[in-house]
Amino acid sequence: MATPLDMGPRVFPRIPETFEHRGYERLSIRPCTPTIGAEIDAFDLGADHDDDTWSELRQALLEWKVLFFRDQDIDRDGHRRFAEHWGSLEQHPFYKYVHPDQSDVDVVRLAKDAVTGGHENEWHTDITWSATPSMGAVLRAVEVPDVGGDTLWADAGAAYDGLSDEVKARIDTLSAVHDWRFSFGLTMPEDAVEMLSEPFPAVEHPVVRVHPETGRRTIFVNPIFTQHIVGVEAQESAALLETLYRQMTRAEFQVRFRWTPGAVAFWDNRATQHYASSDYHPQPRVMDRISIAGDRPFGSATIA
Ligand SMILES: [Fe+2]
Repeated sequence: MATPLDMGPRVFPRIPETFEHRGYERLSIRPCTPTIGAEIDAFDLGADHDDDTWSELRQALLEWKVLFFRDQDIDRDGHRRFAEHWGSLEQHPFYKYVHPDQSDVDVVRLAKDAVTGGHENEWHTDITWSATPSMGAVLRAVEVPDVGGDTLWADAGAAYDGLSDEVKARIDTLSAVHDWRFSFGLTMPEDAVEMLSEPFPAVEHPVVRVHPETGRRTIFVNPIFTQHIVGVEAQESAALLETLYRQMTRAEFQVRFRWTPGAVAFWDNRATQHYASSDYHPQPRVMDRISIAGDRPFGSATIA
């Protein structure tokens, strides 16, 4: 029974029992926590791999949600080739509007320092304001601070499992509105916001997303992009969202990765949220990110 402070064990499965697990013969997997994050040792992202190896890697991604690879000697082309294996590459949807002269660039360089700042330090799933948020992303460390600049990921499935039955029953078939205009839209010139509002209107997604490959229910709201829950009084919507946001911040659902030069993280954006710690300025932190296109999320109402 929960104490008033809601302390106590949080032990949840890594993947649903229904997930068909074939074990690993090709990969050396070093778990970082019981449910999320694994380092894959001695794996060269730039090398050719056979089908069995790729298939184990997909299984590992579904099982651990974020995979880490150290000391990768790859350039942008190698980075791109690895990402292409998982689906079509996706530019940030705003990129072509902001950089019309570079409309086919799919590697986004994130160079954060004391001037540009680090503004990813809030829990979120990428691009949930789009009808089809990314399936995943591959992030490569180009230059890292001596200390700081870690990235944290949270297991949205274990976090859902850890909710009370009452909360689960309340949220399972609800949907929420996601909108970019109240987060990074606030930092953009008014005319740009107006221009982009038409191609990128607010969207609705299920509050509980069912993972399309594992069938697991996951928390799919985040404090950056989610505005409110549809068809629910404002006060209850705010209270439910607060409960879900707080749930995502529990340490038992998280993994924290300390970057080293050449390290690569590959995460399943359908199963996780992430947070980039903004604690390293004025040291530089330079990363290349490639996003992989995703599907339209669906909830349990769709499959019930
Ligand atoms: Fe992000």
